[in-house]
Amino acid sequence: MMDLKVRVLKIFASAVIITGIAVLASCERYAWAPPVIPGDIVISYSGHLYPECHNCHGSWDINKTYDELSSHVDTISPESSAILQIHGSIYQTTMVQINDTLTIPLSDAVILWASQGAKNNK
Ligand code: HEC
Repeated sequence: MMDLKVRVLKIFASAVIITGIAVLASCERYAWAPPVIPGDIVISYSGHLYPECHNCHGSWDINKTYDELSSHVDTISPESSAILQIHGSIYQTTMVQINDTLTIPLSDAVILWASQGAKNNK
């Protein structure tokens, strides 16, 4: 027969564990939620993308960089663009500030830009 004290302890312990998991789970969701990208956001080649490329590819001017980028993106299926393969995780960890409230990974910015026609836009 189980001692009452042990039962109370067990119930208490499982309550603590369940609460802990719930807190961790909600915490994780909060910390890792990707930013929601509003549908009307337009990615600018010269404003958003080029400065990031230029940080690493300093010897390429804005036109050369555009040629390099536009020739390595797929506007039909942006997610399979070669430029994403070339850079791997670099694009996920390079963050681009789009406006006052939105900062997204370069990978998302490039995918969005490609889906918007990969234009040499401002
Ligand atoms: C954080 C640094 C970084 C950023 C930001 C970056 N690149 Fe790169 N890029 C690299 C590195 C490193 C390589 C070499 C990868 C390899 O060859 O393994 C590379 C390779 C490339 C290549 C292939 C070059 C070749 O000789 O075949 C192209 C094209 C390129 N980058 C274009 C761009 C463009 C366009 C952007 C901006 C949208 C950009 N990169 C942003 C670091 C960066």
